[in-house]
Amino acid sequence: MAPTSRELSPLFAGDPLEPMQLFPLRYPWAYAHAQQGKRNTWFPEEIPLADDVRDFKERLNDEERRAVELLLGFFNPMESLVTHNLILAIYPVLTAPEVRLYLARQVWEEANHTMAFEYVLKTLPVERQRVFEAHRSVPAVQAKEAFERELTRQWLERPDVRTDDGKRALLRNLVGYYVILEGVFFYAGFLTFYSFRRRNLLRGLASLIDWVLKDESLHLSFGIHLITTLLEEHPHLMTAPFARELERLILRAVELERDYNQALVSRPILGVSAETLNAYVEYVTDRRLEELGLGARFGTPNPARWMAVEVDVPEIVNFFEATNTSYEVAARREPGADAVG
Ligand SMILES: [Fe+2]
Ligand SMILES: [Fe+2]
Repeated sequence: MAPTSRELSPLFAGDPLEPMQLFPLRYPWAYAHAQQGKRNTWFPEEIPLADDVRDFKERLNDEERRAVELLLGFFNPMESLVTHNLILAIYPVLTAPEVRLYLARQVWEEANHTMAFEYVLKTLPVERQRVFEAHRSVPAVQAKEAFERELTRQWLERPDVRTDDGKRALLRNLVGYYVILEGVFFYAGFLTFYSFRRRNLLRGLASLIDWVLKDESLHLSFGIHLITTLLEEHPHLMTAPFARELERLILRAVELERDYNQALVSRPILGVSAETLNAYVEYVTDRRLEELGLGARFGTPNPARWMAVEVDVPEIVNFFEATNTSYEVAARREPGADAVG
């Protein structure tokens, strides 16, 4: 008897060496994310930074220059860490082909982000060494990195995802990376980068961040789908104590972010203070808690409502909310694809 799609493509703990057979799809949302990612393809050098170099030299004050360096000093190493986590922790255990397809696409995007920040670092007259060392020399950056590294380190010991403990460890990792790093930690940075553009400064860098944000929104969306699917398939994992544990993990991240915001803007720049950033982080964190079904915690209004325009990625939202036409394409290509999912 031919194997069913369920036997062919378990979400995790299947045969890690099985070649990808994409259709019939068991997780159409994962394939849709891969297709959308492909449509978002961009290359850093397409964005000219000549005006940004002039801004950096002539129009920014010392505090603003320092903030740009610290932002780069956080984003740059985190892109590598996300890549390491995808390859060392997540890819080996997630075995559904369409899920692995997107993970492979995400690895490319993270590598592209690494090259994008490298392009910025070699173009802007920043103190490169200070930027590269920020993740070791600035305690608030170091603490956020240590928080994420620990979530990956546990996976070097290969928890067994067939056990409930292993599955919960996987959920912790997915929350730590997709929700916290890509969905919370990056957002105070996005707000600060865009604050420069609102003053007509560093416009090239902000355009590059537009593309990074577009990718990160998709990563976050994929992560939420992944977590939700895992929990739908194994609802007993989400006990009240485990829900509280995930919430504590997220709230710990908010604490780390407060220290980082203080280091980033110890004095307000461009009308942005550490308090503004903290309030924005609380606002964003509430959205993430809601997306995970854990309920908002802070009730803080968005202190930078203009960010809604920057963060809003309408084509992605429509893409996933609409009846998904790409699933129909898949069905046409492979009879029976509409019978799964
Ligand atoms: Fe990234
Ligand atoms: Fe990402």
